[in-house]
Amino acid sequence: MENLNQVIERHYLKEGLFEDILGRLMDQGLDLNSVNRSDIAGVDEFHVRGAAVSKELAQATNLNGLEVLDVGCGLGGPCRMMADEFNCNVTGIDLSNEYIRTARALSKLVKLDHRTKFVVGNATNLPFDDSSFDVVWTQHVQMNIPDKKKFYSEIKRVLKPGGHFLYYDIFKDNDIEVEYPMPWASSANHSFLFKSNAMNDILNELGFERSVITNQTKAGIDFFEALVTKLKAFGPPKIGLNVLMGESTKPKLLNLLSHLKSEALMLESGIYKKA
Ligand SMILES: C[S@@+](CC[C@H](N)C(=O)[O-])C[C@H]1O[C@@H](n2cnc3c(N)ncnc32)[C@H](O)[C@@H]1O
Repeated sequence: MENLNQVIERHYLKEGLFEDILGRLMDQGLDLNSVNRSDIAGVDEFHVRGAAVSKELAQATNLNGLEVLDVGCGLGGPCRMMADEFNCNVTGIDLSNEYIRTARALSKLVKLDHRTKFVVGNATNLPFDDSSFDVVWTQHVQMNIPDKKKFYSEIKRVLKPGGHFLYYDIFKDNDIEVEYPMPWASSANHSFLFKSNAMNDILNELGFERSVITNQTKAGIDFFEALVTKLKAFGPPKIGLNVLMGESTKPKLLNLLSHLKSEALMLESGIYKKA
């Protein structure tokens, strides 16, 4: 029988992902020797509001010259953005072998492989020494992780004293039952939603100090509504999250949108400092 990590890896699995992306770039007439980050931004940021929200989060703290870890990095878009625009070295770790293979190949393609590094591994057992990173970053990952305490404890362990933890995540907003499929889970058996105040309790207990918190729900709803209008007018983009989610893209995105609107779920970003 599959264990939870195998179920999660299978949920996200898209065989031949890098080759699929290359084919789509070529179909658009792009020269593979001069692909830019913006050419792949539609697919390599797997969270609500894509590249725009990552940039806002990165701007909220000083990353210059720092060592950054992205926990659950997916295809590594935010890692490349931070390395390229904020002059830092970024390591991404993810459970998915196929995502990490694709992340490495995409970094090479856009010539950012010297500033980004990708590792296959589990967020609840990080293969890094204590106090290795100045900043730890995570976006839309903890919903797949049942042991929240272990997840945030590992983040604390690898963060240097005085370092910052940045998150952008989906949380339960009240006790309304959530229906699936969602982008992170086809069914409830690999989804572990909790409330942001429960995260805050864990982080306080671990000795973190909260410095910024932003409710991102309205921005997320506005983004989805604009996306739905665009999809109706033009159909699925060549390079979009449909590359990752295939035919289930529409039901997953519409379902997430309706849960944000009904206040079953909310989006929040924030920054904590390790004391
Ligand atoms: C919705 S995607 C977000 C990817 C990336 N953070 C982004 O925003 O583009 C969730 C990612 O979390 C990863 N993930 C889930 N559980 C994990 C775990 N226990 N350890 C490491 N990665 C995990 C998945 O493989 C997937 O790549």
